[in-house]
Amino acid sequence: MIRFNPNVESVRPSATLAMTGRAKQLRREGLPIIGLSAGEPDFDTPAPIVEAGQAAIREGYTRYTENMGMLALREAICRKFEEDNGLAYTPDQILCSSGAKQSVALAVAALCRPGDEVLIPAPYWVSYPEMVRLAGATPKPLATTADDEYRLNPSALEEAIGDATRMLILCSPSNPTGSVYPREELEALAEVLQRRPDVFVLSDEIYEHVLFDAEHVAFASLPGMKERTIMVNGFSKAYAMTGWRLGYMAADPSIVKTSAKIQGQTTSAPCSITQRAGIAALEMDKRYVTDMVSRFRERRDFVLEQLAAIDGIRCPRPEGAFYLFPDVSVYLGSMSASGRAIETSEDLCFYLLEEHHVALVPGGAFGDPGGLRISYAASTEDLQEAMRRIAKGLSELR
Ligand SMILES: Cc1ncc(COP(=O)(O)O)c(C=O)c1O
Repeated sequence: MIRFNPNVESVRPSATLAMTGRAKQLRREGLPIIGLSAGEPDFDTPAPIVEAGQAAIREGYTRYTENMGMLALREAICRKFEEDNGLAYTPDQILCSSGAKQSVALAVAALCRPGDEVLIPAPYWVSYPEMVRLAGATPKPLATTADDEYRLNPSALEEAIGDATRMLILCSPSNPTGSVYPREELEALAEVLQRRPDVFVLSDEIYEHVLFDAEHVAFASLPGMKERTIMVNGFSKAYAMTGWRLGYMAADPSIVKTSAKIQGQTTSAPCSITQRAGIAALEMDKRYVTDMVSRFRERRDFVLEQLAAIDGIRCPRPEGAFYLFPDVSVYLGSMSASGRAIETSEDLCFYLLEEHHVALVPGGAFGDPGGLRISYAASTEDLQEAMRRIAKGLSELR
Protein backbone atom coordinates (compact mmCIF):
# COMPACT_ATOMS: atom_id res chain seq x y z
CA MET A 1 0.00 0.00 0.00
CA ILE A 2 1.50 3.35 -1.03
CA ARG A 3 1.43 6.07 1.63
CA PHE A 4 0.55 9.45 0.11
CA ASN A 5 0.84 12.93 1.49
CA PRO A 6 -2.15 13.31 3.88
CA ASN A 7 -2.81 16.82 2.55
CA VAL A 8 -3.39 15.32 -0.88
CA GLU A 9 -5.45 12.45 0.54
CA SER A 10 -7.78 15.07 2.07
CA VAL A 11 -8.53 16.62 -1.35
CA ARG A 12 -11.93 15.54 -2.61
CA PRO A 13 -12.14 14.15 -6.12
CA SER A 14 -13.98 16.48 -8.47
CA ALA A 15 -17.72 15.93 -8.12
CA THR A 16 -18.18 17.21 -11.65
CA LEU A 17 -16.00 14.48 -13.13
CA ALA A 18 -18.69 11.82 -12.77
CA MET A 19 -21.17 14.09 -14.59
CA THR A 20 -18.85 15.02 -17.45
CA GLY A 21 -17.72 11.40 -17.80
CA ARG A 22 -21.33 10.26 -18.12
CA ALA A 23 -22.12 13.08 -20.60
CA LYS A 24 -19.18 11.99 -22.77
CA GLN A 25 -20.26 8.37 -22.64
CA LEU A 26 -23.84 9.25 -23.69
CA ARG A 27 -22.51 11.41 -26.55
CA ARG A 28 -20.37 8.50 -27.74
CA GLU A 29 -23.53 6.40 -27.75
CA GLY A 30 -24.98 8.93 -30.20
CA LEU A 31 -27.33 10.85 -27.88
CA PRO A 32 -27.73 14.58 -28.66
CA ILE A 33 -26.40 15.89 -25.33
CA ILE A 34 -26.32 19.69 -24.89
CA GLY A 35 -23.54 20.72 -22.52
CA LEU A 36 -24.23 23.68 -20.24
CA SER A 37 -21.49 22.76 -17.81
CA ALA A 38 -18.49 24.52 -19.36
CA GLY A 39 -16.52 27.05 -17.36
CA GLU A 40 -15.15 28.84 -20.39
CA PRO A 41 -16.33 31.28 -23.07
CA ASP A 42 -17.50 29.57 -26.26
CA PHE A 43 -15.89 32.35 -28.33
CA ASP A 44 -12.55 32.14 -30.14
CA THR A 45 -9.55 34.07 -28.83
CA PRO A 46 -9.68 37.54 -30.47
CA ALA A 47 -7.51 37.95 -33.60
CA PRO A 48 -5.00 40.50 -32.24
CA ILE A 49 -4.08 38.08 -29.45
CA VAL A 50 -3.71 35.14 -31.82
CA GLU A 51 -1.54 37.25 -34.14
CA ALA A 52 0.66 38.34 -31.23
CA GLY A 53 1.13 34.68 -30.28
CA GLN A 54 2.10 33.76 -33.83
CA ALA A 55 4.47 36.73 -34.05
CA ALA A 56 6.05 35.71 -30.72
CA ILE A 57 6.97 32.32 -32.18
CA ARG A 58 8.35 33.85 -35.38
CA GLU A 59 10.33 36.47 -33.45
CA GLY A 60 11.94 33.88 -31.21
CA TYR A 61 10.14 34.46 -27.90
CA THR A 62 10.60 30.80 -27.23
CA ARG A 63 12.92 30.73 -24.26
CA TYR A 64 12.52 30.85 -20.47
CA THR A 65 11.45 34.26 -19.26
CA GLU A 66 12.00 35.82 -15.85
CA ASN A 67 10.34 33.62 -13.25
CA MET A 68 7.86 36.38 -12.31
CA GLY A 69 6.91 36.95 -15.95
CA MET A 70 8.37 39.32 -18.57
CA LEU A 71 8.88 42.84 -17.29
CA ALA A 72 6.89 44.20 -20.29
CA LEU A 73 3.89 42.07 -19.28
CA ARG A 74 4.09 43.03 -15.64
CA GLU A 75 4.31 46.70 -16.66
CA ALA A 76 1.24 46.27 -18.88
CA ILE A 77 -0.59 44.68 -15.91
CA CYS A 78 0.39 47.67 -13.72
CA ARG A 79 -1.12 50.00 -16.37
CA LYS A 80 -4.28 47.88 -16.36
CA PHE A 81 -4.61 48.26 -12.58
CA GLU A 82 -4.08 52.02 -12.85
CA GLU A 83 -6.62 52.48 -15.67
CA ASP A 84 -9.31 49.98 -14.64
CA ASN A 85 -9.09 50.07 -10.87
CA GLY A 86 -7.21 53.27 -9.93
CA LEU A 87 -4.62 51.11 -8.17
CA ALA A 88 -0.88 51.81 -8.23
CA TYR A 89 1.28 48.69 -8.30
CA THR A 90 4.90 48.33 -9.34
CA PRO A 91 6.21 45.33 -11.35
CA ASP A 92 7.76 43.79 -8.19
CA GLN A 93 4.19 43.46 -6.88
CA ILE A 94 3.03 41.40 -9.85
CA LEU A 95 3.54 37.65 -10.29
CA CYS A 96 2.43 36.10 -13.60
CA SER A 97 1.52 32.41 -13.49
CA SER A 98 0.08 29.69 -15.69
CA GLY A 99 -3.54 30.68 -15.00
CA ALA A 100 -5.38 32.38 -12.16
CA LYS A 101 -5.81 28.91 -10.69
CA GLN A 102 -2.07 28.72 -10.11
CA SER A 103 -2.07 32.27 -8.69
CA VAL A 104 -4.69 31.31 -6.09
CA ALA A 105 -2.84 28.09 -5.22
CA LEU A 106 0.47 29.93 -4.79
CA ALA A 107 -0.98 32.64 -2.55
CA VAL A 108 -2.76 30.07 -0.37
CA ALA A 109 0.37 27.90 -0.15
CA ALA A 110 2.53 30.91 0.71
CA LEU A 111 0.28 32.19 3.50
CA CYS A 112 -1.65 29.28 5.03
CA ARG A 113 -0.45 26.50 7.27
CA PRO A 114 -1.95 23.72 9.42
CA GLY A 115 -4.22 25.21 12.07
CA ASP A 116 -5.18 28.21 9.91
CA GLU A 117 -8.78 28.65 8.81
CA VAL A 118 -9.80 30.15 5.48
CA LEU A 119 -13.29 31.62 5.18
CA ILE A 120 -14.98 30.87 1.86
CA PRO A 121 -18.49 32.13 1.09
CA ALA A 122 -20.55 29.32 -0.49
CA PRO A 123 -21.52 28.63 -3.23
CA TYR A 124 -17.81 28.84 -4.07
CA TRP A 125 -15.53 28.04 -6.99
CA VAL A 126 -14.73 24.32 -6.59
CA SER A 127 -10.97 24.68 -6.25
CA TYR A 128 -10.75 27.08 -3.27
CA PRO A 129 -11.39 24.57 -0.45
CA GLU A 130 -9.19 21.96 -2.07
CA MET A 131 -6.27 24.37 -2.41
CA VAL A 132 -6.66 25.23 1.27
CA ARG A 133 -6.60 21.51 2.13
CA LEU A 134 -3.49 21.01 -0.01
CA ALA A 135 -1.76 23.66 2.10
CA GLY A 136 -2.77 21.67 5.20
CA ALA A 137 -5.11 24.46 6.38
CA THR A 138 -8.87 24.23 7.00
CA PRO A 139 -11.53 25.64 4.67
CA LYS A 140 -14.54 27.14 6.47
CA PRO A 141 -17.49 27.61 4.10
CA LEU A 142 -19.93 30.40 4.96
CA ALA A 143 -23.37 29.66 3.51
CA THR A 144 -25.19 32.35 1.52
CA THR A 145 -28.63 31.95 -0.04
CA ALA A 146 -30.57 32.95 -3.16
CA ASP A 147 -32.47 35.41 -0.91
CA ASP A 148 -29.15 37.21 -0.17
CA GLU A 149 -28.35 37.00 -3.89
CA TYR A 150 -25.54 34.70 -2.77
CA ARG A 151 -23.51 37.45 -1.11
CA LEU A 152 -21.87 37.30 2.30
CA ASN A 153 -23.23 39.80 4.79
CA PRO A 154 -21.00 41.57 7.32
CA SER A 155 -22.65 40.07 10.40
CA ALA A 156 -22.04 36.53 9.07
CA LEU A 157 -18.39 37.49 8.50
CA GLU A 158 -18.13 39.02 11.97
CA GLU A 159 -19.54 35.86 13.51
CA ALA A 160 -17.27 33.54 11.51
CA ILE A 161 -13.96 35.30 12.11
CA GLY A 162 -12.07 33.62 14.91
CA ASP A 163 -8.55 33.48 16.30
CA ALA A 164 -7.56 30.88 13.69
CA THR A 165 -8.84 32.90 10.70
CA ARG A 166 -6.00 33.59 8.31
CA MET A 167 -7.73 34.49 5.07
CA LEU A 168 -11.06 35.34 3.45
CA ILE A 169 -11.56 34.39 -0.20
CA LEU A 170 -13.90 36.61 -2.21
CA CYS A 171 -14.94 36.12 -5.82
CA SER A 172 -16.90 38.91 -7.52
CA PRO A 173 -18.33 38.47 -10.11
CA SER A 174 -18.79 34.95 -8.83
CA ASN A 175 -18.39 31.52 -10.28
CA PRO A 176 -20.86 29.75 -9.82
CA THR A 177 -23.58 32.33 -9.05
CA GLY A 178 -22.67 35.36 -11.18
CA SER A 179 -23.38 37.60 -8.20
CA VAL A 180 -21.52 40.90 -7.92
CA TYR A 181 -20.88 42.74 -4.66
CA PRO A 182 -21.92 46.40 -4.78
CA ARG A 183 -19.42 48.89 -3.38
CA GLU A 184 -21.30 49.51 -0.11
CA GLU A 185 -21.42 45.78 0.70
CA LEU A 186 -17.69 45.41 0.12
CA GLU A 187 -17.10 48.46 2.30
CA ALA A 188 -19.16 46.85 5.06
CA LEU A 189 -17.09 43.66 4.82
CA ALA A 190 -13.90 45.76 4.85
CA GLU A 191 -15.09 47.49 8.00
CA VAL A 192 -15.41 44.15 9.79
CA LEU A 193 -11.89 43.27 8.60
CA GLN A 194 -10.45 46.55 9.91
CA ARG A 195 -10.66 45.01 13.38
CA ARG A 196 -8.47 42.10 12.30
CA PRO A 197 -5.40 43.43 10.45
CA ASP A 198 -3.84 39.95 10.48
CA VAL A 199 -6.52 38.47 8.16
CA PHE A 200 -5.66 38.45 4.45
CA VAL A 201 -8.18 38.76 1.64
CA LEU A 202 -7.71 36.85 -1.57
CA SER A 203 -9.91 38.64 -4.08
CA ASP A 204 -10.41 36.59 -7.23
CA GLU A 205 -11.55 39.09 -9.86
CA ILE A 206 -11.11 36.95 -12.96
CA TYR A 207 -14.66 37.81 -14.17
CA GLU A 208 -14.05 41.56 -13.70
CA HIS A 209 -14.86 42.40 -17.32
CA VAL A 210 -17.74 39.95 -17.74
CA LEU A 211 -20.10 42.39 -16.08
CA PHE A 212 -23.59 43.71 -16.91
CA ASP A 213 -24.95 47.07 -15.67
CA ALA A 214 -22.85 46.92 -12.53
CA GLU A 215 -19.70 48.59 -11.24
CA HIS A 216 -16.66 46.43 -10.58
CA VAL A 217 -15.00 47.38 -7.32
CA ALA A 218 -11.48 46.06 -6.83
CA PHE A 219 -11.22 44.97 -3.20
CA ALA A 220 -7.73 46.45 -2.84
CA SER A 221 -9.10 49.88 -3.79
CA LEU A 222 -11.15 50.07 -0.56
CA PRO A 223 -9.64 52.20 2.21
CA GLY A 224 -7.05 50.29 4.23
CA MET A 225 -7.40 47.04 2.25
CA LYS A 226 -4.56 47.17 -0.29
CA GLU A 227 -1.75 45.91 1.97
CA ARG A 228 -3.65 42.81 3.07
CA THR A 229 -5.30 41.98 -0.27
CA ILE A 230 -4.01 39.52 -2.83
CA MET A 231 -5.66 40.53 -6.10
CA VAL A 232 -5.98 37.60 -8.50
CA ASN A 233 -6.95 38.03 -12.12
CA GLY A 234 -6.35 36.30 -15.43
CA PHE A 235 -6.86 36.20 -19.16
CA SER A 236 -9.02 33.08 -19.53
CA LYS A 237 -12.48 34.61 -19.24
CA ALA A 238 -12.34 38.22 -20.52
CA TYR A 239 -10.13 37.35 -23.49
CA ALA A 240 -11.36 33.80 -24.21
CA MET A 241 -7.85 32.45 -23.54
CA THR A 242 -8.53 29.41 -21.35
CA GLY A 243 -6.06 27.19 -23.20
CA TRP A 244 -3.26 29.75 -23.23
CA ARG A 245 -2.87 29.58 -19.42
CA LEU A 246 -2.10 33.03 -18.06
CA GLY A 247 -3.07 34.63 -14.77
CA TYR A 248 -1.49 36.90 -12.19
CA MET A 249 -1.55 38.14 -8.63
CA ALA A 250 -0.85 41.62 -7.31
CA ALA A 251 0.06 41.89 -3.66
CA ASP A 252 2.55 43.11 -1.09
CA PRO A 253 6.09 42.47 -2.47
CA SER A 254 6.86 39.97 0.32
CA ILE A 255 3.80 37.86 -0.59
CA VAL A 256 4.72 38.04 -4.28
CA LYS A 257 8.32 37.08 -3.51
CA THR A 258 7.29 34.10 -1.38
CA SER A 259 4.78 32.91 -3.98
CA ALA A 260 7.42 33.39 -6.71
CA LYS A 261 9.78 31.17 -4.72
CA ILE A 262 7.27 28.30 -4.94
CA GLN A 263 6.68 28.99 -8.64
CA GLY A 264 10.43 29.09 -9.31
CA GLN A 265 10.92 25.63 -7.80
CA THR A 266 7.84 24.02 -9.32
CA THR A 267 6.67 25.33 -12.70
CA SER A 268 8.78 28.44 -13.48
CA ALA A 269 7.24 31.30 -15.46
CA PRO A 270 4.20 30.84 -17.71
CA CYS A 271 4.69 30.13 -21.43
CA SER A 272 6.74 32.84 -23.18
CA ILE A 273 4.47 32.91 -26.25
CA THR A 274 1.38 33.29 -24.08
CA GLN A 275 3.00 36.15 -22.19
CA ARG A 276 3.54 38.08 -25.44
CA ALA A 277 -0.08 37.36 -26.40
CA GLY A 278 -1.15 38.60 -22.96
CA ILE A 279 0.45 41.99 -23.59
CA ALA A 280 -1.55 42.24 -26.83
CA ALA A 281 -4.75 41.32 -24.97
CA LEU A 282 -4.27 44.15 -22.49
CA GLU A 283 -3.47 46.63 -25.25
CA MET A 284 -6.08 45.69 -27.88
CA ASP A 285 -9.32 47.53 -28.60
CA LYS A 286 -11.76 47.01 -25.70
CA ARG A 287 -14.52 46.36 -28.26
CA TYR A 288 -13.55 42.68 -28.48
CA VAL A 289 -14.45 42.26 -24.83
CA THR A 290 -17.55 44.47 -24.80
CA ASP A 291 -18.99 42.66 -27.85
CA MET A 292 -18.57 39.29 -26.15
CA VAL A 293 -20.10 40.61 -22.93
CA SER A 294 -23.17 41.95 -24.74
CA ARG A 295 -23.73 38.49 -26.25
CA PHE A 296 -23.49 36.99 -22.75
CA ARG A 297 -25.99 39.54 -21.49
CA GLU A 298 -28.56 38.55 -24.14
CA ARG A 299 -28.13 34.91 -23.22
CA ARG A 300 -28.41 35.62 -19.49
CA ASP A 301 -31.68 37.46 -20.08
CA PHE A 302 -33.02 34.62 -22.21
CA VAL A 303 -32.17 31.86 -19.73
CA LEU A 304 -33.46 33.89 -16.76
CA GLU A 305 -36.76 34.46 -18.56
CA GLN A 306 -37.09 30.73 -19.23
CA LEU A 307 -36.25 29.86 -15.61
CA ALA A 308 -38.81 32.36 -14.32
CA ALA A 309 -41.51 30.43 -16.18
CA ILE A 310 -40.65 27.17 -14.36
CA ASP A 311 -42.60 26.43 -11.17
CA GLY A 312 -40.76 26.74 -7.87
CA ILE A 313 -37.33 27.77 -9.19
CA ARG A 314 -35.71 30.77 -7.56
CA CYS A 315 -32.80 32.40 -9.29
CA PRO A 316 -31.35 35.82 -8.52
CA ARG A 317 -30.49 38.02 -11.50
CA PRO A 318 -26.71 37.87 -11.71
CA GLU A 319 -24.75 40.90 -12.83
CA GLY A 320 -21.65 39.12 -14.05
CA ALA A 321 -19.77 35.99 -15.22
CA PHE A 322 -21.66 33.54 -17.46
CA TYR A 323 -23.43 31.34 -14.97
CA LEU A 324 -26.81 31.07 -13.28
CA PHE A 325 -27.30 29.24 -10.02
CA PRO A 326 -31.00 28.46 -9.59
CA ASP A 327 -32.23 27.11 -6.27
CA VAL A 328 -33.91 23.85 -7.25
CA SER A 329 -34.57 22.56 -3.75
CA VAL A 330 -38.36 22.30 -4.35
CA TYR A 331 -37.63 19.47 -6.78
CA LEU A 332 -35.57 17.46 -4.31
CA GLY A 333 -37.52 14.60 -2.75
CA SER A 334 -39.51 14.02 -5.94
CA MET A 335 -39.94 11.10 -8.33
CA SER A 336 -39.52 11.01 -12.10
CA ALA A 337 -42.10 9.49 -14.48
CA SER A 338 -39.59 6.64 -15.01
CA GLY A 339 -39.59 5.93 -11.25
CA ARG A 340 -36.24 7.53 -10.44
CA ALA A 341 -35.93 9.05 -6.95
CA ILE A 342 -34.55 12.62 -7.01
CA GLU A 343 -33.09 13.20 -3.55
CA THR A 344 -30.11 15.47 -4.29
CA SER A 345 -29.17 18.05 -6.92
CA GLU A 346 -26.75 15.41 -8.22
CA ASP A 347 -29.70 13.00 -8.76
CA LEU A 348 -31.51 15.85 -10.52
CA CYS A 349 -28.53 16.56 -12.80
CA PHE A 350 -28.14 12.86 -13.66
CA TYR A 351 -31.88 12.68 -14.41
CA LEU A 352 -31.74 15.76 -16.68
CA LEU A 353 -28.65 14.35 -18.37
CA GLU A 354 -29.75 10.76 -18.89
CA GLU A 355 -33.44 11.32 -19.64
CA HIS A 356 -33.49 14.85 -21.12
CA HIS A 357 -29.92 15.12 -22.45
CA VAL A 358 -28.76 18.36 -20.86
CA ALA A 359 -25.49 18.46 -18.91
CA LEU A 360 -25.42 20.78 -15.85
CA VAL A 361 -23.29 20.86 -12.71
CA PRO A 362 -24.85 19.89 -9.35
CA GLY A 363 -24.62 22.50 -6.60
CA GLY A 364 -22.95 20.15 -4.12
CA ALA A 365 -19.69 20.63 -6.05
CA PHE A 366 -19.88 24.33 -5.12
CA GLY A 367 -20.88 23.76 -1.50
CA ASP A 368 -24.63 24.32 -2.00
CA PRO A 369 -26.58 21.10 -2.58
CA GLY A 370 -29.88 23.00 -3.08
CA GLY A 371 -28.79 24.50 -6.39
CA LEU A 372 -27.20 23.69 -9.70
CA ARG A 373 -25.04 25.66 -12.12
CA ILE A 374 -26.09 26.50 -15.64
CA SER A 375 -23.35 27.92 -17.86
CA TYR A 376 -24.76 30.02 -20.68
CA ALA A 377 -21.48 30.04 -22.59
CA ALA A 378 -23.30 28.19 -25.39
CA SER A 379 -25.01 29.10 -28.66
CA THR A 380 -28.50 30.62 -28.64
CA GLU A 381 -29.90 27.56 -30.43
CA ASP A 382 -28.41 25.21 -27.85
CA LEU A 383 -29.72 27.38 -25.01
CA GLN A 384 -33.22 27.44 -26.48
CA GLU A 385 -33.33 23.68 -26.89
CA ALA A 386 -31.70 23.03 -23.49
CA MET A 387 -34.19 25.25 -21.67
CA ARG A 388 -37.08 23.47 -23.40
CA ARG A 389 -35.70 20.15 -22.24
CA ILE A 390 -35.06 21.33 -18.65
CA ALA A 391 -38.60 22.75 -18.37
CA LYS A 392 -40.08 19.51 -19.70
CA GLY A 393 -37.90 17.36 -17.42
CA LEU A 394 -38.86 19.32 -14.31
CA SER A 395 -42.55 19.38 -15.23
CA GLU A 396 -42.55 15.57 -15.29
CA LEU A 397 -41.37 15.27 -11.67
CA ARG A 398 -43.92 14.38 -9.03
C1 LIG B 1 -13.49 31.98 -10.07
C2 LIG B 1 -12.39 31.40 -10.90
N1 LIG B 1 -11.12 31.66 -10.55
C3 LIG B 1 -10.10 31.17 -11.25
C4 LIG B 1 -10.31 30.37 -12.35
C5 LIG B 1 -9.10 29.81 -13.07
O1 LIG B 1 -8.84 30.44 -14.26
P1 LIG B 1 -7.52 30.16 -15.09
O2 LIG B 1 -7.98 29.58 -16.37
O3 LIG B 1 -6.90 31.53 -15.28
O4 LIG B 1 -6.64 29.27 -14.31
C6 LIG B 1 -11.60 30.07 -12.76
C7 LIG B 1 -11.85 29.18 -13.90
O5 LIG B 1 -12.86 28.52 -14.02
C8 LIG B 1 -12.69 30.63 -12.02
O6 LIG B 1 -13.95 30.38 -12.36
